[in-house]
Amino acid sequence: MNSDNQKKRPIILGNWKMNKSLKEGVQYARSLKAAIAGKSGIICGICPPYVFLKDICAVLEGSTICVSAQNMHSEASGAFTGEIAAPMLKEVGCSHVLVGHSERRHIFGEDDFFINDKIKKAISFELVPILCIGETLEEREAGNTKDVVLRQLKNGLRGVGIEVIKCIIIAYEPVWAIGTGRTASPEQANEVHSFIRTILSEDYGKDIAKKLSIIYGGSVKADNTGALIHQPEIDGLLVGGASLELESFLTIIEVLQGVDF
Ligand code: PGA
Repeated sequence: MNSDNQKKRPIILGNWKMNKSLKEGVQYARSLKAAIAGKSGIICGICPPYVFLKDICAVLEGSTICVSAQNMHSEASGAFTGEIAAPMLKEVGCSHVLVGHSERRHIFGEDDFFINDKIKKAISFELVPILCIGETLEEREAGNTKDVVLRQLKNGLRGVGIEVIKCIIIAYEPVWAIGTGRTASPEQANEVHSFIRTILSEDYGKDIAKKLSIIYGGSVKADNTGALIHQPEIDGLLVGGASLELESFLTIIEVLQGVDF
């Protein structure tokens, strides 16, 4: 995913979370590869569970489909039982990694500082980090959406210099919209994306901020894809539940391909 491209291609990422068997995952990857062969208008990726990554990277070799891990540790090696490090992901063929997904923040208690260390480590191993940020329902209802997003963005990117910021993708995923069937309205999502771009613009300059991809996640489905992606500040989608069935993921991809960017 290259933010230097003149025209940003829309990004579509499927986050499988803790789902599928290895056999199902490999079959899905094969079929996805065949289905999008030769289609260059979009950037497509999948985020399988750790233990499938090597096999799936092998299946997708030679295709344009990116493989992203769902998480990583902030250290490159060491006594961290049960954890996975950036060079390991790189070695098996991943190009991307989700960092700070709301399920990591809220179920596993990851904080902004740990997330920031992961972001810097991912970049140092030439993995593209997808920094996930977003407010809870309580925070939105209390009118704190922008404060939360600002804090997560600033802390997550602390120490990330202008020379490497272009390697990063930001994913805005309101927690209340994840897996709930309750999507942010296109206008609500666009408003927060616009706010994020303003912050990036203040910190890194307008030109750089314009080129960065800010993608939306939270109950994305084929029937809301068109409206979301037509918003000027939404550069792509991070899809959980609706990416699990290949047919449904392909329908979303088709909608994206029909949009003139
Ligand atoms: P969802 O998940 O599409 O099932 O809401 C999105 C995500 O968690 O990335």
